[in-house]
Amino acid sequence: MQRLALRWRREHCRIGFVPTMGYLHAGHLSLVQRARRRVGPAGRVVVSIYVNPTQFGPQEDLSRYPRDFKRDQQLCRAAGVDVIFAPGDGEMYPPGAEAGFSTYVTEETLARGMEGAARPTHFRGVTTVVAKLFNLVLPDVAVFGAKDYQQAAVIQRMVRDLNFPVRIDVAPTHREPDGLAMSSRNKYLSAEERGQAVVLAEALRQARAAVKAGPVDSVQLKQQLSRFIAGRPAARLDYIEIFDPETLVPRAQATPGARMALAVFFGKTRLIDNETI
Ligand code: PAF
Repeated sequence: MQRLALRWRREHCRIGFVPTMGYLHAGHLSLVQRARRRVGPAGRVVVSIYVNPTQFGPQEDLSRYPRDFKRDQQLCRAAGVDVIFAPGDGEMYPPGAEAGFSTYVTEETLARGMEGAARPTHFRGVTTVVAKLFNLVLPDVAVFGAKDYQQAAVIQRMVRDLNFPVRIDVAPTHREPDGLAMSSRNKYLSAEERGQAVVLAEALRQARAAVKAGPVDSVQLKQQLSRFIAGRPAARLDYIEIFDPETLVPRAQATPGARMALAVFFGKTRLIDNETI
């Protein structure tokens, strides 16, 4: 991959990159279109498909994460992707105490709250694999989805702090017709859970409506939304946060322009969403 990317760079070919864990959906494909627009018809678009073990906690869904490489290949071909980069665990993280992998990248501010608090080793895995992927694919621009808003912020910070010569482009969340944010994990939901999963998008809509009339106390708004979510018997709230869109610091007052994120369990399935309110 790196040899190919170096050749493209020598040929002054722009490289657009969409890192994924596969099981592609329309949201991923919208990131591919965006990468294509950024690099133009003469550029190259690379999609990586790698279920990165270091970003999963020990009790999480690594072993059952959905995979369908054949279908992903067809979707990538139809979307005009030039190269799929699908490394194996042995290449990305060679085992062994002596010769094995032992260097990690951590972002230490933006990665602390929300997903970082709920999943303590998650962002270290993300920043490490994304740093590796950037060094392998050598992209001019990399496209990430806003559904993982904190992830995009952490990666932007890593790129700035470690001087990666890449532009990070964050694309709006792609949603199902009822508002549910597209995610490979939606596949885990039973019909009943799927019906109730729209509660994340509804809570975001409620928050936006609430702040329209003027600032609202965040604690009160979070309590109101928790009650609303508890009204869906299959849903179990993990967290709601209202925060500054740049610093990700929680805000005592919810006002228009703040960002709200939430995580909700449906059985073992954990869904996240966020928007500007
Ligand atoms: O957002 C994802 O799918 C993953 O976190 C990423 C960025 C591909 C890293 O494994």
